[in-house]
Amino acid sequence: AGLAYSPPYYPSPWMDPEAKGWETAYAQAKAVVEDMTLLEKVNLTTGVGWMGDLCVGNVGSIPRLGWRGLCMQDGPQGIRFADYVSYFTSSQVAAASFDRGLLYRRGNAMAAEAKGKGVDVLLGPSIGPLGRLPAAGRNWEGFGTDPYLAGVAAAETVKGIQDAGVVANVKHFIVNEQEHFRQAGEARGYGFDIAESLSSNVDDRTMHEVYLWPFADTIRAGAGSIMCSYQQINNSYGCQNSYLLNGILKQEMGFQGFVLSDWQAQHAGAATAVAGLDMTMPGDTVFNSGVSFWGANLTNAVLNGTVPEHRLDDMAMRILAAWFKVGNSLDEVEEVNFSSWTRDTVGPVHFAANEDVRVINQHIDVRENHGDMIRSDAARGTVLLKNEGALPLDKPKFVAVVGEDAGPRSVGPNGCADQGCNDGTLAAGWGSGTASFPYLVTPDSALQKRALEDGSRYESILSNWADDATVKLVSEPDATPIVFVNANSGEGYMVVDGNRGDRNNLTLWNGGDELIKRVAGVNPNTIVVVHSTGPVLVTDWYQNPNVTAIVWAGLPGQESGNAITDILYGRVNPGGKTPFTWGPTEESYGVKVLTEPNNGNGAPQDDFTEGVLVDYRWFDKQTEDDDMGVTHADGNEKAPVFEFGFGLSYTSFEFSDLRVEKKDPRPYKPTAGETAPAPRFGGNYSQDYEDYVFPSDEFSYVYQHIYPYLNSSDPVEALADPDYGLTAEEFLPPGALDGSAQPKLPASGPNGGNAQLWDTMYTVFATITNTGDVVGDEVAQLYVSLGGPDDAPKVLRGFERIRIDPGTSETFRADLTRRDLSNWDVVTQNWVVSDYPKTIYVGNSSRKLPLSTRLE
Ligand code: NOJ
Repeated sequence: AGLAYSPPYYPSPWMDPEAKGWETAYAQAKAVVEDMTLLEKVNLTTGVGWMGDLCVGNVGSIPRLGWRGLCMQDGPQGIRFADYVSYFTSSQVAAASFDRGLLYRRGNAMAAEAKGKGVDVLLGPSIGPLGRLPAAGRNWEGFGTDPYLAGVAAAETVKGIQDAGVVANVKHFIVNEQEHFRQAGEARGYGFDIAESLSSNVDDRTMHEVYLWPFADTIRAGAGSIMCSYQQINNSYGCQNSYLLNGILKQEMGFQGFVLSDWQAQHAGAATAVAGLDMTMPGDTVFNSGVSFWGANLTNAVLNGTVPEHRLDDMAMRILAAWFKVGNSLDEVEEVNFSSWTRDTVGPVHFAANEDVRVINQHIDVRENHGDMIRSDAARGTVLLKNEGALPLDKPKFVAVVGEDAGPRSVGPNGCADQGCNDGTLAAGWGSGTASFPYLVTPDSALQKRALEDGSRYESILSNWADDATVKLVSEPDATPIVFVNANSGEGYMVVDGNRGDRNNLTLWNGGDELIKRVAGVNPNTIVVVHSTGPVLVTDWYQNPNVTAIVWAGLPGQESGNAITDILYGRVNPGGKTPFTWGPTEESYGVKVLTEPNNGNGAPQDDFTEGVLVDYRWFDKQTEDDDMGVTHADGNEKAPVFEFGFGLSYTSFEFSDLRVEKKDPRPYKPTAGETAPAPRFGGNYSQDYEDYVFPSDEFSYVYQHIYPYLNSSDPVEALADPDYGLTAEEFLPPGALDGSAQPKLPASGPNGGNAQLWDTMYTVFATITNTGDVVGDEVAQLYVSLGGPDDAPKVLRGFERIRIDPGTSETFRADLTRRDLSNWDVVTQNWVVSDYPKTIYVGNSSRKLPLSTRLE
């Protein structure tokens, strides 16, 4: 009682045969689905169980078609659990580049590697968590805290992935903003007595303007699949929230692909089917339990009419259409040539059951020349936060590298499973968003190589605790110390240094702050490099005049050392911008990870009371009356230290000549009319339960594997369900079975929403001049003040990374769409351009905006 509530939305929308970009795939899927049996359709929707086959997720095969089923594999930073693959930069670093081309190519290269291993669905990109909470464990898997940036970045990534013939999986839908309590079982393992997972309680407007925004972009980009999240949204589980899956995702945003569950995020059978889930992963209710909410249960539910046939058809259609859409064909399906569970060449295909032993790892090297790209990406995503003339380095006489974070890990770069430790240089966070390093170039090795080429003297102390030796070394005349520090985080199923996924605080790890202060205490030219999964508190030392440069390198991936050397020596002129705000204190963010249950043993309740004021929007609101030009905190505990979008270069830029062209799109028309009724494909299934039991001949049952077959031709016995016999109407919500034409929602459309939301209303131009003496990249940024009392002071609505030769100028151009200028109106359930006066700003950070004008 009194808890946030998510209203029902039924029936689950079926695919639209006319959705742009999906027409051919729809026809191809239809041709197959029409001939599929009930059992085959069910097999497509249900995973075979944890470790039941070669990939992290696998759905059953269709032997009649000689089809092996689908392989779903993590993740957003490269291929997990495979050898001879690349370790890419984190998405957060890629986002910091603000470079659309880079984001596309990175996605494309990751997917080329996935394809080479036989992967069908790559479990990325991630845009949830968005980064509402600075300490949240998995923020680095996404593209920074701004929905506009995340939307552009994720859409480019989706296009890159799918152009390589792999289905992208956008995750986690939705408001999966922290690790604590994401799964009740996991939390109980940590000693919390809770029966249900966390509920993220979010209002409709915030949901649309912040959290759904980037998902809409990925749908527009044609994303083939979406992963529903572990936690609840307004007290309804992510994978059975009919309002979000049926109402918003599939109806309003017109998503045509399939929804797959996060691993063990499914909590019911028929209820999830009618609420819009299309595929259950990994298929068993609890890992290796041998039982499933779907599989045989779904077969039976369709047979007895609990789940409508058209819903199962639609699941199969969505799954196959997504797979066809990226260019697949049933005639040439590559085999999966690696196993997630062992590196042995010969081993069991069905690892959990230890059955079907054969060659499972072909050790195929799929890396091509991606290393060069990763080096360049990591450098382009590196952010120069402070530089008092210390950088770029120019043949320093003596380079003194300090810190554990510059060196190798004692057990090797892959020595901790899923990167679950923090030892040596931090190039990747922990959890399922990991890959395997083919090598890891440490900062120490790359910087030493460079120093030797230059004839510099070089020494490194790869420990944070060698106090006396460190002070002695960096006190030497002519020493240029480079101090490497880090802060790590990851996924909630692992605990590193006492951090359960989410960081316990925002300070540096392993005494990093002390190390910096120790070095800067004796050396007047101390350079600091931070490897981290998000912001850290720099308040204690960033203004120290002896700290002459600060560089954020995020999680750079396998080419870490080469990339940072390129930046420090000016081979690459820094052009990255911080994709999140660096606050002066933990409190300054206004929000915190919920670390104690607050609802008895019910679902912990996380109210998103800050609403749309996420990250820089919050900081801007706190300091609304201050000068827009304020950059550094300088004692103002409400102003950021480094604001969103900020980053320096070795050259300087000037912005001038703001121009706005008003376009004249047709007036906005809310979508009206009705959908077609639910189609039926094939069907006329036999009602004889004998036809659905395990086949008797030549069938070899794999232990604990999830099958679509019934155990017995007596459904009561087959399902052993105490509630068996209740009719659908008795326990499913009204409308769940309805297959009739449905009214369309006003904001709806098949490619992310009403197509007119993407009409251009204004085009903005500005001139940027490189006023320094080296070539450099500037990220021009366009912000809009929507003007309402409840709006953030400004929101990012355009950007472009532009390379400019010294002494020359380039033009920045950005289109403002109707959506860019709209608010979500909760009454009309539509996007509306409000009457409040709108101002646009152009500059090179969220607080350095020299150009502005009122929109007419
Ligand atoms: C759980 C994670 O939340 C998800 O991101 C991942 O793809 C699956 N596990 C599979 O590893």
